[in-house]
Amino acid sequence: MDNKVYIFDTTLRDGEQVPGCQLNTIEKIEVARQLEKLGVDVIEAGFPISSPGDFNSVVEISKAVSNPTICALTRAVKKDIEVAADALKFAKRGRIHTGIGTSPYHIKYKLNSNEDEIVERAVAAVKYAKRFVEDVEFYAEDAGRSDNEYLARVVEAVIAAGATVINIPDTTGYCLPKEYGEKIAYLVNNVPNVDKAILSTHCHNDLGMATANTLAGVTNGARQVEVTINGLGERAGNTSLEEVVMAMKSHHDLNYNTGIDTKQIMKTSKLVSTLMRMPVQANKAIVGRNAFAHSSGIHQDGVLKNRENYEIIDPADVGVKESSIVLTARSGRAALKHRLHVLGYEFEGTELDDIYQQFLDLADKKKDVADEDLEALAGSEKEKQDRSIKLESLQVISGSSTIPTATVAVSFNGDVFTETASGNGPIDAAFTAVKALVKRKVHLEEFLIQAITRGSDDLGKVHVQVEHKGHTYYGFSANVDIITASVEAFLDSISKIG
Ligand code: KIV
Ligand code: ZN
Repeated sequence: MDNKVYIFDTTLRDGEQVPGCQLNTIEKIEVARQLEKLGVDVIEAGFPISSPGDFNSVVEISKAVSNPTICALTRAVKKDIEVAADALKFAKRGRIHTGIGTSPYHIKYKLNSNEDEIVERAVAAVKYAKRFVEDVEFYAEDAGRSDNEYLARVVEAVIAAGATVINIPDTTGYCLPKEYGEKIAYLVNNVPNVDKAILSTHCHNDLGMATANTLAGVTNGARQVEVTINGLGERAGNTSLEEVVMAMKSHHDLNYNTGIDTKQIMKTSKLVSTLMRMPVQANKAIVGRNAFAHSSGIHQDGVLKNRENYEIIDPADVGVKESSIVLTARSGRAALKHRLHVLGYEFEGTELDDIYQQFLDLADKKKDVADEDLEALAGSEKEKQDRSIKLESLQVISGSSTIPTATVAVSFNGDVFTETASGNGPIDAAFTAVKALVKRKVHLEEFLIQAITRGSDDLGKVHVQVEHKGHTYYGFSANVDIITASVEAFLDSISKIG
């Protein structure tokens, strides 16, 4: 059997059904373009009959991307199929995804029908869809709770009618991995014409088993997986693309291949999370904020000695720059030394012991120890004063009816230079002026402002992360004036560039 597993992304259809996650057409096009870069084989772009917006999105996505097949969902209803075919008219490769419920619940209570009639309706829908497109996928809704013998009968009939892909959805997320795997195996072994179509998994995560079920489907013969970015989807969501792809990639012995460029995973996850206003849980596998963060001393020490001691995935493989080390009271000397090194300080021997002791005292009082705390420990105040690049003065004009403008004076080894610039806001204006002064190509990667407590008269802390010639540099400052703190932090990061 061929080991290529096709990736069918339904973020824009099943994922988008989540309340509050709706996207407009422009946003959908942006996601679709990123999915194309990611290398998915099929994009399910919408359910065209459901609304003019969905119809339009399928049309526009068909125009905007060319490599993936564009798929449109329908019920087993003629009008749905006609509208889907119309929406797909610009697709280079279009697929109609039609289907009907096959479980006793759906047949009796949802469709008020019987088994024979459902087979007839399924066959009729596939035949009708074939009039418009060659590629027709059939879904047996609630296949997870359907009787395997009956399911095999439906599948055989729709393949005979021309279906090219057969989707076996565990619509309610009910199955156990063994059960779902056996369902796929049953179809492989009992549907005489099964070799004329590709079997597809489509698992929901109600019992937290969507990824396991999907992989059980693949190991038993399915060769398409229906997934969403970040596992988005109704209720507990759908199978997450990143989990399935990375599970297959990490287990080389399984020998499956996909067309996914895994380095695009994090970028895609962030885009979908931002546009759909759905934060990713911190401990989410592969794409969560903590997926590559180590906080216990033993783990940190192990990772610094050899990443593979505690990581099965190289963060770079999914587009994450490096593992992060979160300093807490459980961190060891090696982690502290490493972080100080990143911040530009070198400590060895008894000096390291001393600073480690001070660090432990501080970490006992605070939950996480931040860079500025370390800088303070490492005598950064003196360092700051000695630094060759310093902010001498800053003047900002800003308001609701004026173009934000900043004049920045910076001293370089004692010589003061001044620059004025405008920008989208006062900080942008000031940063633009700084960039003109330092004459270095720096790219701002992260910019974080935090109030130390809650009062408006409080100190604001600013962290920045900049990139210069492939290296990352961190800057920090704290000031009651948040714009001054931002410029100081920016200069702090620039001053660390060798
Ligand atoms: O979960 C499901 O059954 C579906 C079908 C409409 C494919 O999303
Ligand atoms: Zn679904």
